[in-house]
Amino acid sequence: MTVSEKTVVIITGASSGIGEATARLLGITHNYSLVLAARRVERLQALADEIEAAGGQALPVATDVTHLGDIQHLVEAALARFGRIDVLFNNAGFGRMKWLEELDPVRDIDLQLKANILGVIQTTRAVLPHMIQQRSGHIINMASVAGLVATPTYSIYSASKFAVRGFTEALRREVGIWNIRVTGIYPGGVATEFVEHTGVKRKTGLSTPKLLKLTAEDLAGAVFKIIQNPRRMVVLPWPMKVTYWFNILFPGLVDWSIEHRFTIPERLNK
Ligand SMILES: NC(=O)c1ccc[n+]([C@@H]2O[C@H](COP(=O)([O-])OP(=O)(O)OC[C@H]3O[C@@H](n4cnc5c(N)ncnc54)[C@H](OP(=O)(O)O)[C@@H]3O)[C@@H](O)[C@H]2O)c1
Repeated sequence: MTVSEKTVVIITGASSGIGEATARLLGITHNYSLVLAARRVERLQALADEIEAAGGQALPVATDVTHLGDIQHLVEAALARFGRIDVLFNNAGFGRMKWLEELDPVRDIDLQLKANILGVIQTTRAVLPHMIQQRSGHIINMASVAGLVATPTYSIYSASKFAVRGFTEALRREVGIWNIRVTGIYPGGVATEFVEHTGVKRKTGLSTPKLLKLTAEDLAGAVFKIIQNPRRMVVLPWPMKVTYWFNILFPGLVDWSIEHRFTIPERLNK
């Protein structure tokens, strides 16, 4: 085993969207050593080939974050190739946005919670002993604005991302003594394949205004900055912080407004 002199980063959900863009930025522009995890291994392989062709180092590892055996294998493969793990970017996840009673109990509820929160917890747990031994590390957890403000049809997604937030906050206070940083990222809408998997069908046509829509590259840039300068919590784009505070200060008004602008037109107007 040779120990990498470069920063070693595990990225889960690296086969598309935010994870893929982050891998390109870290692996090609900043020359980090990468371990790329997701289920679609052919996509990971193509991305790893692209990074290596540009002079970087990337190891693709087929991983389903809902399978403990896959997570264990991911961590072992990372250590076998690079000898250390500096950053874990827990990014894998998906959302199914429907009324609760319409969600499939297994595909939409069990699996969503397993991928979005248990995947984050179990991958962190598997990596942590090495970071503790190293006395350094950085865990970056992908939450969402939906982990700060809950909206209709996002019940399970929000539950999973609120849980990511709780986990992130508690973990920071467990491992900071060993120089292990813990960051939560809370983005609003990002233009990725994510939306194709949500199953969203809206009558009102309400969605994130174009001006507030982020790109996967915006998020990749944010992750790079977070690695360089660890922070507790990053909310993007910044106007979402206003939404967050408004929801805390005026919950009744937010309930009323969402019910009248969204729930009633969507559920009652046939
Ligand atoms: N797009 C948005 O508007 C938005 C906003 C806020 C937060 N987020 C969060 O950002 C993260 C990345 O989403 P994205 O926008 O980049 O969407 P995306 O393009 O659909 O990417 C999702 C990634 O997660 C992986 N994934 C899903 N289930 C997995 C599992 N069981 N095991 C391993 N990997 C799994 C997918 O890979 P495979 O299918 O190949 O396994 C894919 O690489 C998610 O956690 C999402 O909740 C997204």
